[in-house]
Amino acid sequence: MIADRLLTGISQLVSTAGIGAARGAAMGELEIITDAAIAIVDDQVAWVGPRTEWHGSATTEQHLGNRAVLPGLVDPHTHAVWAGDRLADFEARVSGVPYEAILAGGGGIRSTVRHTAAASAEQLLALAAPRIDALMRSGATTIEVKSGYGFTHEAEIVSLGVIAALATSSPVGIEATLLIHVPPANAAERVDYLAMVTHELIPEAARRGLARSVDIFIEQEAFNLAEAAAVFAAARASALSIKAHVDQFHAIGGLDLAVEQGALSVDHLEASGPAQIAALARGKSVAVILPGVTLHLGLPAAPARAIIEAGAAVAVGTDLNPGSSPLFSTQQAMALAVRLNRLTPAEAVTAGTANAAAALGRGDIGRIRSGTRADLLVLDSADWRDLPYTLGASPIGKLFIGGHEVSL
Ligand code: NIG
Ligand code: FE
Repeated sequence: MIADRLLTGISQLVSTAGIGAARGAAMGELEIITDAAIAIVDDQVAWVGPRTEWHGSATTEQHLGNRAVLPGLVDPHTHAVWAGDRLADFEARVSGVPYEAILAGGGGIRSTVRHTAAASAEQLLALAAPRIDALMRSGATTIEVKSGYGFTHEAEIVSLGVIAALATSSPVGIEATLLIHVPPANAAERVDYLAMVTHELIPEAARRGLARSVDIFIEQEAFNLAEAAAVFAAARASALSIKAHVDQFHAIGGLDLAVEQGALSVDHLEASGPAQIAALARGKSVAVILPGVTLHLGLPAAPARAIIEAGAAVAVGTDLNPGSSPLFSTQQAMALAVRLNRLTPAEAVTAGTANAAAALGRGDIGRIRSGTRADLLVLDSADWRDLPYTLGASPIGKLFIGGHEVSL
């Protein structure tokens, strides 16, 4: 084989065993090759193995200096496109006003909607680009970005356009999701709003290739089960995947509905209990945990330990957004999942790579093996455990996306 690039000086090459989402005990099964080499052709991994077993040639060879290499992280849940801030909410919350009370009073998500709707596409792009850059510098090579602060048809299309612009302006891979976030404050307008979403917004987003998935916030202060079922049906009719924000404050049946309908992922789960864990074990959806929310809102942690022990698949993301999780590091989300959700370090790696990729329906990223995209994270350490261990500083040395080193 003649490779474009050969990477050597790899103390440990670490990647989750198996294919697709790793469920249950398989989440802890990492394949570790010591003194490894990786051959890259075009944007893909062409060969991996012990360095002494490489017998091909390469146009360029790069010695990484005895560093651990893992798959580039996948952040499966962000709301990176917003304007305005939630600093007043932050002060109110820490002095005791609940997040849901702020939302019910017309603030919270709705205040971010007002600021986002008032911003131009150019302004939104200028605000979002550095957020994507921060996530990339924390090790993310693919990032899911949701709309959802636009609210109106027009403003949601603008947000999706900004996400498309991020995909061309940033070296990271971007997965766009249309998020149906909050219903109109006036209950009389709900039926018309849902009709606009299902008959106009979802079909247009699909037709113009602006989103791959549709997400909906199912909660007492947001959408109910019947509304979610209508949104899922519209997504399916437009050949889009589905996802859902469920069980953040109350388990009102959103998880069960979304899993039953074949959602790629169900996200949050802070209020999930044994019945929801059993539904995850029976279904195929990936459980996405968001420990930044646990930290920032002081919510209970999603019961990830029990979810894994029941045999389901857990992924982790930042949920980067101004209200519930101002967490600008995908690596820290992983590190928090170990502390707050009791994942083992090995499970956290799987949650931030292979399972996060599965939460996006992507089999070509999240692992390092022949045929995957050459998205690689080179640690500043010889030991992979520094990745889920480190708090407050970046343990990332280098990042390759599609076989090319990006500047950090
Ligand atoms: O994932 N729960 C709903 N949506 C976001 C929060 C958005 C916000 O507070 O602005 C979440 O937590
Ligand atoms: Fe979210």
